[in-house]
Amino acid sequence: SAAEKGGYDYFMLKEIAEQPRAVADTLLGRIDASGSLRLDELRISAAELREVDKVVIVACGTAFHAGMIAKYAIEHWTRIPCEVELASEFRYRDPILDPRTLVIAISQSGETMDTLMAVRHAREQGSKVLAICNTNGSTIPRESDAVLYTHAGPEVAVASTKAFLTQLVACYLVALYLGQARGTKWGDEIRAVIRDLSQISREVGRVLRTMEPVRELARSLADKDTVLFLGRHVGYPVALEGALKLKELAYMHAEGFAAGELKHGPIALIEEDLPVVVVVPSPRGRSVLYDKIVSNIQEIRARGARTIVIAEEGDTAVEPYADHLIRIPATPTLLQPLVATVPLQVFACELATARGNEVDQPRNLAKSVTVE
Ligand code: G6P
Repeated sequence: SAAEKGGYDYFMLKEIAEQPRAVADTLLGRIDASGSLRLDELRISAAELREVDKVVIVACGTAFHAGMIAKYAIEHWTRIPCEVELASEFRYRDPILDPRTLVIAISQSGETMDTLMAVRHAREQGSKVLAICNTNGSTIPRESDAVLYTHAGPEVAVASTKAFLTQLVACYLVALYLGQARGTKWGDEIRAVIRDLSQISREVGRVLRTMEPVRELARSLADKDTVLFLGRHVGYPVALEGALKLKELAYMHAEGFAAGELKHGPIALIEEDLPVVVVVPSPRGRSVLYDKIVSNIQEIRARGARTIVIAEEGDTAVEPYADHLIRIPATPTLLQPLVATVPLQVFACELATARGNEVDQPRNLAKSVTVE
């Protein structure tokens, strides 16, 4: 009913709008007054965390993209090697697991069969499993050693939005907590990131208030067949998520690529007026990463692409190469997916609506896939 949708036409719109609150709720009570993380609820002791010598993340769909982003954060802040794998592939390749491996299973529903099977396999090998889950008392947390709940609230739309943002928050918390427990040399950075994280829900809110041009752009692309998405570093999984949203909702051919791979194939797809969304990292410090992606934008534009550039406020260097510019607030590099994903959700939702699709219940898809 309309009341259930909080006055929005679709659950997805409501859930997109709820993201600032979902992010804030997932942080609530987990950062203490001194700015340190309090995750006693994990029931894994600091001593046990110090023993961990490998992290393996398993998940499906959108949760898998959260896991891909988590890998960057975990390896950077903890220096523990981290792998991320599609749950449906995991146990079939005889993965190397032992009691010092921490397996993190990410699932909104807690009922995805492939992820559950990966959890069971990991525990049989003696590994500890930590679930990141949005559904209290669901099967995956019940079968795991520990759980960190995301507090997105019920997510009804099949395409995941607010659960994804809170999965990212939970992954950052786990990464920072691991770093904190192990006392890595990134101590100061970890404290600074915890501070930034506690501000981030406001930034998500700011993004949401500037989405009208994104909706307009989406409507203007309703008769396109293909949209490509490019990113590097954490912008790469964001590109994959942008493409997944468009497939799920708009039934369009959409693909995400690591921008560095352009020259190894995807650039052959570029033709006149093909929309290409590019996620640009922060220009601060003019990192190598930044310069490389700016040259990628130039390369595709020279070949006729219509460039849709997602760039930080104040980044003027990309302006000459952007046919459409979508601004996001400045954040630390690793946190950028929290703000960069939001315009892609809005974009896909609006394009689906413009194409006359059923936004909350896309064809052929289920909210939770309980078969293998
Ligand atoms: C289905 C949903 C996706 C979701 C995936 C994983 O495919 O349509 O939106 O990302 O399952 O679900 P989970 O509940 O495990 O996060």
